[in-house]
Amino acid sequence: MEKRRIIVDCDPGVDDAIALAYAAANQDKFQILGITSVSGNQSIEKVTRNALNVAEYFGLDVPVARGMEGPLVKEPLLAREIHGENGLGQCEFPEASGTVVKEHAVLFLYKKLVELSKKEKITIVATGPLTNIAMLLKLFPEVKEKILEIVFMGGAAMGGNVTPSAEFNIYVDPEAASIVFMSGIPLVMCGLDVTLKCTLKRNQVMKLCQSGNPAAKICGDMAGFVLENTSTKYRGEVSVHDAVPWMYLLHPEIFTGKRTILSVECSDGQARGTTVCDLRWWNHDEEELNSIVLLDADQERFQEYLITALYELGESMKGKYKE
Ligand code: RIB
Ligand code: CA
Repeated sequence: MEKRRIIVDCDPGVDDAIALAYAAANQDKFQILGITSVSGNQSIEKVTRNALNVAEYFGLDVPVARGMEGPLVKEPLLAREIHGENGLGQCEFPEASGTVVKEHAVLFLYKKLVELSKKEKITIVATGPLTNIAMLLKLFPEVKEKILEIVFMGGAAMGGNVTPSAEFNIYVDPEAASIVFMSGIPLVMCGLDVTLKCTLKRNQVMKLCQSGNPAAKICGDMAGFVLENTSTKYRGEVSVHDAVPWMYLLHPEIFTGKRTILSVECSDGQARGTTVCDLRWWNHDEEELNSIVLLDADQERFQEYLITALYELGESMKGKYKE
């Protein structure tokens, strides 16, 4: 069976990095065409450097393109208090030998989409603010039909983490999210409704940190930074938000969701960045319900699949890096 073509748009970011490790562990199941960086958790310089270093370290030998330096309208809102000054929980990866491609991420996405043959399409996995994707759709609306679906971490049917009702990736750039939501492209929203269950418990993080496994240990160290340096320490577990889109593509059976129409609040009021999931299927024609919002996940199977993959990836890396 033909492998799903994927481009990853991300803002590494601790959980973006762990998600890239999970993707690397499963890269034989996909055709990963590239990684695009976007300003979000940290500055575009830092998230781009992180994408290069993390991809090379975990064995993702794909082009990396540097993306938008900030949201469409407002100023960047960095999450250094969560991801640390370097964006990776103050964990150091070896400096990558490679560099970014010369095109801007939006042009890189465009070129990858237009060079496909007539029947081929690309899935976009987005784990940062949707700024690059919105720019792509505004500049080149004709590429819409080349996008099979966008599986993104962001938003929530209920709840928030930046405000009581807004999630970071959407809150940073709600105007971009609105452009993507109104595009008509099939969307799968992996929001806080599921990512707050898709976690690593403190004891699981500790075991990763204590392992001699080159992938498991650094992912444990990154997760441990978030777990011990933010209010998640009171939860005793840390969400690996950005692994969820990948987990959905590989193990959709561990999730439940509903068909919906997505919208987002772009006003400057207290509801800014709030995603609205219209679940009233009886009010809409079938084709209007172009999105799925994930609402529940099997936490234990998420943890089992993720942890097993990190150890397997590390085994394949042994000998490549000193432990
Ligand atoms: O709200 C969680 C999301 O915001 C994750 O993608 C995390 O990396 C940050 O970008
Ligand atoms: Ca992210």
